[in-house]
Amino acid sequence: MISFYKQQLAERMVILGHHYQRDDIIQFADFTGDSLKLSQLAAREKDAEFIVFCGVHFMAESADILSAEHQKVFLPDVSAGCSMADMAEIDQVEQCGEILQQQLPHPEKLIPVTYINSSAAVKAFCGRHNGLCCTSSNCLAVFEFLWQRDPKTVVLFLPDEHLGRNTAYRYGITLNDMALWDPYEPSGAVTAEQLAHSRMVLWKGFCSVHQEFTCEQIHKARGEDPDVNVIVHPECCFEVAQLADYVGSTEYIIKTIRAARPGTNWVVGTEINLVNRLAREMKQRNIKVRSLSECPCLCETMYRIDLPHLAWLLDNLYQHCLAPDKNPFVNQIIVDEVTKRYAHQALAKMIQLTAVPVD
Ligand code: 13P
Ligand code: SF4
Repeated sequence: MISFYKQQLAERMVILGHHYQRDDIIQFADFTGDSLKLSQLAAREKDAEFIVFCGVHFMAESADILSAEHQKVFLPDVSAGCSMADMAEIDQVEQCGEILQQQLPHPEKLIPVTYINSSAAVKAFCGRHNGLCCTSSNCLAVFEFLWQRDPKTVVLFLPDEHLGRNTAYRYGITLNDMALWDPYEPSGAVTAEQLAHSRMVLWKGFCSVHQEFTCEQIHKARGEDPDVNVIVHPECCFEVAQLADYVGSTEYIIKTIRAARPGTNWVVGTEINLVNRLAREMKQRNIKVRSLSECPCLCETMYRIDLPHLAWLLDNLYQHCLAPDKNPFVNQIIVDEVTKRYAHQALAKMIQLTAVPVD
């Protein structure tokens, strides 16, 4: 059925699939990628009138922000959200921005940076305040740009404390120079003394999937095989990222393991659908791949995108093309115009700074 709709809709539609999608969805994706690659593709694929995003809500919003006016973006299941993105509500972020403006010794140095795993409203906040977005692929490049331009910049990093801490540390910022803003505590539970020397204020948010990976799991894997390679996503906590051999985005994880030598052994700290797919692919080359955790670390919201939802959505698009008046669109993701304008500034600045080649 899905193949039939794909054939009928042909170049009018493009299906984008994030690496955490299940195999049965990935088989129908025209392009797969990490958040950076998919956001660039959404900005590039101007011929497709319909962009079907097999991923989570913030990704579809980003596609709507970056795509052209004649394009429409759809999410097969609108309940596919991201618990990390939900941890930074726009009212909390605005309040944090106001307090930091009052308390920082040099408020004009404050630049908000949001991980792409955030709502369009939070991206717009960054755009309005001279900030930008980043993904797990280009976070270091964004920090390098900001701190090389002005070493006195204070970054407010939203909403993943771990990506922010891991990357800032890699850049050379000490843990002592990072403050942690808790949106549920008065003044974020950050003191004026801390702010006096902070170069980064981290929002207290995290990914419930990646927080399942622990140092004990790494010790156990190395106990079983001292030559094992440990590779994790930067959404893992600081201690895990420090112990791992390699840290990077989903695209980086795939590229690194694909380039590995036959006979090597890998444990991976990221979402289970990607790990299992890599394990199957690498088996043919005698490369062992398994999850760092023994319990399956599944992104349940990514998993909501399944074949029935995809088939139902494509059926609607097909019926709409036959009789537009009788078949209004379903599950279209629309970001309002004002939010879109500022969120676009934040995303476009990121792409301009850090675009990577996409196939
Ligand atoms: P990537 O940008 O590495 O694909 O990560 C997206 C994500 O949601 C990881 O949890
Ligand atoms: Fe969000 Fe974590 Fe799922 Fe990524 S893996 S979409 S950060 S909940």
